[in-house]
Amino acid sequence: MNLPPKIIKIAPSILSADFGKLNEEIAAVEPYSDWIHVDVMDGHFVPNITIGPVIVKSIKSKLPLDCHLMIESPERYVENFVKAGAAHITVHQEACIHLDRNIQQIKDLGVKAGVSINPATPAETLKHVIDKVDLVLVMTVNPGFGGQRFIPEVLSKISYLRNLRSDLDIVVDGGINEETAKLVIEAGANILVAGSYIFGVQNRKKAIERLRG
Ligand code: DX5
Ligand code: ZN
Repeated sequence: MNLPPKIIKIAPSILSADFGKLNEEIAAVEPYSDWIHVDVMDGHFVPNITIGPVIVKSIKSKLPLDCHLMIESPERYVENFVKAGAAHITVHQEACIHLDRNIQQIKDLGVKAGVSINPATPAETLKHVIDKVDLVLVMTVNPGFGGQRFIPEVLSKISYLRNLRSDLDIVVDGGINEETAKLVIEAGANILVAGSYIFGVQNRKKAIERLRG
């Protein structure tokens, strides 16, 4: 039986926010949230293009900016995101030929280092870096877009990672709502990213409270 850490953190994903008033959108969730999740997409690693360091720099928030890099060769841009204000940088295992080196690069820049795996990537591929990362982000949809349906087959990967390291921050991202939140917390996740579930409703406070269970 896994015992997930008691405190659940919520990281609203600004991908589903109104970019025309991004800082207002962030201000509306900030009092109830723990991190702000920033999805960076390059049109290569995923079939969508979003934002770069220029926009990250314009974000005004007291919360840590949790930058999820869904880009190829992330090592080329890590420093730019740190300079722009990222507090955490998560790279994809599938995008890193030298994962160990990439994690070290992030840590050397003084921010938290995360690694993410797509739904099709086995959690075992992270065994060699599990003690070096600050967080693991388990994709619960195929990355690229907000508003997709949760893939339940990933739950066993969350439990596997929780068994591997009890103090690990396990982040889940994609298709998180009131129901799926319960499943991932039960499996051992302690940080929930949610985009459409939070920004798709007027009452963001209530949505966030529901996710916490
Ligand atoms: C998807 C992104 C997610 C996305 C989640 O590739 O990494 O952060 O914003 O959106 P929802 O919560 O709507 O599935
Ligand atoms: Zn994300």
